[in-house]
Amino acid sequence: MAFPAGFGWGAATAAYQIEGGWDADGKGPCVWDTFTHQGGDRVFKNQTGDVACNSYTLWEEDLKCIKQLGLTHYRFSLSWSRLLPDGTTGFINQKGVDYYNKIIDDLLKNKIIPMVTLFHFDMPQALEDKGGWLSEATIDVFDQYARFCFSTFGDRVKHWITMNEPNVFAILAYDLGFFPPAVPHVGTGGYQAAHNLIKAHARAWHSYNSLFRKEQKGLVSLSFFTVWLEPADPNSASDKQASERALAFELGVFAKPIFIDGDYPEVVKSQIASMSKRQGYPSSRLPEFTEEEKKMIKGTADFFAVQYYTTRLIKHKENKEGELGLLQDAEIDYSTDPSWKGENWVFVVPWGLRKLLKHVKDTYNNPVIYITENGFPQCDPPSIDDTQRWECFRQTFQELSKAIQIDKVNLQIYCAWSLLDNFEWNDGYRVRFGLYHVDFEDPARPRVPYKSAKEYAKVIRNNGLEEKP
Ligand code: NOJ
Repeated sequence: MAFPAGFGWGAATAAYQIEGGWDADGKGPCVWDTFTHQGGDRVFKNQTGDVACNSYTLWEEDLKCIKQLGLTHYRFSLSWSRLLPDGTTGFINQKGVDYYNKIIDDLLKNKIIPMVTLFHFDMPQALEDKGGWLSEATIDVFDQYARFCFSTFGDRVKHWITMNEPNVFAILAYDLGFFPPAVPHVGTGGYQAAHNLIKAHARAWHSYNSLFRKEQKGLVSLSFFTVWLEPADPNSASDKQASERALAFELGVFAKPIFIDGDYPEVVKSQIASMSKRQGYPSSRLPEFTEEEKKMIKGTADFFAVQYYTTRLIKHKENKEGELGLLQDAEIDYSTDPSWKGENWVFVVPWGLRKLLKHVKDTYNNPVIYITENGFPQCDPPSIDDTQRWECFRQTFQELSKAIQIDKVNLQIYCAWSLLDNFEWNDGYRVRFGLYHVDFEDPARPRVPYKSAKEYAKVIRNNGLEEKP
């Protein structure tokens, strides 16, 4: 169970989930500030990220954890509205720049490679007010923000992720409205947002490619959330087809245009077009890329970043009534196996990750793969001796080792989610993914390693599961 020499072992966080300091030193509000301050029971106990882990003040405590683990990589995100309070480069908040400069410099001083996400769900409120990701104008503003980050931090940051999980974010924020702006547009908003997100990513990649790559020599991609989607009955042709369809809707919608040919998967286009027609729409609810846009989008990623947590079983389910929705467009239904143990929505299926990696290898031309998130939650009250949780990580590492050695998948970096217990979006602080426990009742927000952190540190030291003699 050894890993290739130089394999990257990281952990990840995101600005809104850990930083706090929601209005400190000139930061502008982001959509999650607005959303959580409105209350309305959309977040567990109406909790907010106002203080969270207070990493805005306690970065040095985070660094201690990172060093204790012996991480080779640390993935974090920039708060767009901490840097650019109204989202535009019209005004730059120097205190925000200083904060991230310190993080990057401290990491490099300790030989830890920073991996930086530009956008992790926390849209500046000022931009959301102008239509957010439903508006085409946001593409240009995002590109300006990306250029600003490349020019400010790119002398030291070489691993960029333009956006975190745009594939689920588009649906949660703009289709279902579980995330801010919390205005549902079922059946249309998700596709419209996805369309703009894809173009915005591609624009930012091109900006890097033409203006910064030669000098900075870094890599730019984006990260996708993917549940592994297994046919419920492996002997049923219809279930197999349904699971392929499900993968096209979940991952292919973003990955095919960006990694293959600039356009959505055929099955996605045809399902949505025929469903839209039945529903009386004048054209497909899925927007179309122009030929020029397809050329602009194709090939705009330097590595493939996936975030895996769990698996679902997929069955074909005909949309007889012509209902609106993503699952309805895909005509699938999903379930879990009663033998899988789970916590919250995460059912522990380590082999699903191996299958996903193989799928990525086979479908997307054997790319370099980074796992930019993977983890297991504990619901309150958590146990510091999280033996069972460590067992999930251990089995996952075994699967990764098989993926590398047997399936010859080009996996180079693994990041655990998350360094710290943090604000888990609609679940607030109830659901804990941290390697370090954080006491959210204590103003000092002490960080205490779970057993998983201590065990993960050993894996990193040994570059695998076996102890070195
Ligand atoms: C993926 C998201 O990127 C992250 O923000 C979230 O906390 C984890 N999944 C766990 O749900």
